[in-house]
Amino acid sequence: MNKQIVILPGDGIGKEIMDAAVRVLQAIAENFNHQFTFSEHLIGGAAIDGEQSPLPETTIHACKKADAVLLGAVGGEKWDALPGEKRPEKGLLGIRKELGLFANLRPIKAFTPLLHASPLKEEIVEGSNILIIRELTGGLYFGEPKKRIPEENAVVDTLYYTQTEIERIVDKAFQTARTRKKRVTSVDKANVLESSRVWREVVEEKSKQYPDIAVDHLLVDAAAMKLITNPKQFDVIVTENMFGDILSDEASVLTGSLGMLPSASVRTDGVGLYEPVHGSAPDIAGKGIANPLGMILSASSMLRQSFGMEQEADEIEYAVQMTLEQGYHTPDLSIKNGTVVGTKEMTDIILGNLATNDASQCICNS
Ligand code: NAD
Ligand code: IPM
Ligand code: MN
Repeated sequence: MNKQIVILPGDGIGKEIMDAAVRVLQAIAENFNHQFTFSEHLIGGAAIDGEQSPLPETTIHACKKADAVLLGAVGGEKWDALPGEKRPEKGLLGIRKELGLFANLRPIKAFTPLLHASPLKEEIVEGSNILIIRELTGGLYFGEPKKRIPEENAVVDTLYYTQTEIERIVDKAFQTARTRKKRVTSVDKANVLESSRVWREVVEEKSKQYPDIAVDHLLVDAAAMKLITNPKQFDVIVTENMFGDILSDEASVLTGSLGMLPSASVRTDGVGLYEPVHGSAPDIAGKGIANPLGMILSASSMLRQSFGMEQEADEIEYAVQMTLEQGYHTPDLSIKNGTVVGTKEMTDIILGNLATNDASQCICNS
């Protein structure tokens, strides 16, 4: 197959992890006789420096024409003093909105060799397999007004959702649950927020169309506690934009590191954007030690979800699993008796395992 992939490395460790993902995709293209064409564009701080905008028109245009988009991470101290509209993060929010990517799928499942890499007890982590479906283009992130009000010495952010926006993300959760363990937990703050009460009503109403799916509701504060005390109770979690942002970083603790988590930002049809859950990690940027696995697994998710390349995706995930079983890991993970390696070396080992692996043994995506 012939595919045009836009890459947006962004800032901080973004470039380091994107290099790793592109190398893995090039190896897959060679092994399976595909043609992947990569075109790199600016976003975030790099785009502010290069084009005076966190999201240049050329980047939007290239993404809209692409078969899929890969994004590293944006942001950094250098741009932290800029006003909200001009910050690197505005570029990321902007591209999600421009592409209509209302659903952000964040799978959380620990690889077996990493069960003891979590600070949580192994028996808590073992067997957990969660998919957080985060609403991505509405809610508190996008509602207007969002501004300072100097004359009142006050400030406002707005949590705004249309009924349709809630319905489509809830639909996505029910449909996805059908391909998993058929259980949806809707997370809200319905004891306080009117938007959450409407969210809950929509979930109840929609659930009538999905009688095969078990539904429950949790308040977000309790959900945050249960995620790390009894994660096995969850299958699909569906929630508002900001709740999903916070809960997914918390859930990464199950996997041993935030650097492990991939994500897929998608719509019902059209181009998808694949991005790790973590940020630009300024504290380790440039040191060559970033964990590339969240980015590499995002690339494998792109192959599976945008291109229908199941076997190719399985091979990447199996090569990652093999590499971890061999004890190799970046310093953010603590594995007993393991070998600490940098980003590039980790990628080299994955490429070596890709060349030899047998994806039929892959249990990582089951
Ligand atoms: P962060 O996710 O960048 O880092 C949090 C911690 O996790 C740091 O200690 C970091 O070193 C570690 N970490 C994250 N990814 C890692 C990886 N792949 N390998 C090893 N360690 C990793 O969050 P932050 O420090 O709160 O934010 C830094 C910047 O990133 C901010 O400007 C923020 O806005 C931005 N950010 C961007 C995205 C994105 O582009 N998708 C996501 C989150 C934060
Ligand atoms: C994420 C990030 C972004 C978000 C920021 C950088 C805008 O934290 O992708 O999780 O909050 O959506
Ligand atoms: Mn986040």
